[in-house]
Amino acid sequence: MILMEELTKRYGESLAVDTLSVEVAAGEVCVLIGPSGCGKTTTLRMINRLVEPSEGRIFINGEDTRKRPPELLRRSIGYAIQSVGLFPHMTVEQNISVVPSILGWDRSRISNRVHELLLLVGLDPAGYTHKYPTQLSGGEAQRVGVARALAADPPILLMDEPFGAVDPLTRERLQQQFLSIQKELRKTVVLVTHDLDEAVRLADRIAVMRAGKLVQFDTPERLLASPTDAFVRSFVGADRALKRISRVPVTSMMQPVKTLVRSGDTLSGDVSQVPRFAWVTDADGRLLGWLDTAQSRSPDSVFEIDAAQVEYLTVPDSASARDALSRMLGQGVRSIPVIDESRRLLGEVTLRSIEEVTAE
Ligand SMILES: Nc1ncnc2c1ncn2[C@@H]1O[C@H](COP(=O)(O)OP(=O)(O)OP(=O)(O)O)[C@@H](O)[C@H]1O
Ligand SMILES: [Mg+2]
Repeated sequence: MILMEELTKRYGESLAVDTLSVEVAAGEVCVLIGPSGCGKTTTLRMINRLVEPSEGRIFINGEDTRKRPPELLRRSIGYAIQSVGLFPHMTVEQNISVVPSILGWDRSRISNRVHELLLLVGLDPAGYTHKYPTQLSGGEAQRVGVARALAADPPILLMDEPFGAVDPLTRERLQQQFLSIQKELRKTVVLVTHDLDEAVRLADRIAVMRAGKLVQFDTPERLLASPTDAFVRSFVGADRALKRISRVPVTSMMQPVKTLVRSGDTLSGDVSQVPRFAWVTDADGRLLGWLDTAQSRSPDSVFEIDAAQVEYLTVPDSASARDALSRMLGQGVRSIPVIDESRRLLGEVTLRSIEEVTAE
């Protein structure tokens, strides 16, 4: 757990950080966001004492960080810095090994760890261990930066725009990788970004900063639903409703759907009651297709859908309300079925239920 208490950093007359108090729970991802120059990096660097606060205190697991020599403190805190900052004269392996070497790990333990971390961030160890930073793409270098920050398995991770310098697709992949790594490792993370979508995707809580001050500290849902003031409102943007529903899982707004069941040559369920259209499943509830009763009510008339169509006509149960909305808009329909991994039909999400969420 990280507790920042009334932190202030002065440079001459100006305040880089101004009486900032934030508490980050163990295992939580806290995202610092705000305009350029608002004090995000300075805040991060005060946590590992690369910058000493002018006033205020920081506690990690209840212990005042000033009580520990900065070098020792930093070994328990992974740090992935803005613009990666790999050592250019060192290979990928050597870069990742910096802290484990300082900690005196033996060679084989270090090389096992490097191997494991490269796999974790999705880089093939055989191809990357001996490369130099100039031989890496921006996205690869950022992944090595993240691996280096994780090297000694620190309980705390500070990440300063770790996915900044890459294209949107790679960025999304890195974010997803981060989320799945975090699900497993449960580090306490403070992450800085400029990108609100990234914050909404990754954060348990978001701290919005402006001119050194904390203006709102909330879950993504609450930040998007009720920005505290005009600054936060304009910062989260006019499309905050859309951003918000990207955090809402379809399973939370799913409604039961009446289906027909086809087994063998028969359709069970009350076919005569079907107004016009019904989804048809097999006996195990797996989606087979649909029946357009305006044309025919015969089991032979079930329009079967193939795997590619399933992808287009449904959403998986891991999808967000935003995914569902985008599918519905794409097809011009007002509801969409939700299926699980085995194609079982779980229910449906309607435009109306999404409207209800955004109107809250
Ligand atoms: N060593 C320093 N000496 C003087 N002023 C500094 C120093 N470091 C930072 N500042 C100032 O403190 C303020 C906050 O800087 P900081 O790097 O924390 O911003 P940031 O929020 O990380 O910005 P960005 O999003 O551009 O990275 C800025 O106005 C900056 O000019
Ligand atoms: Mg910065």
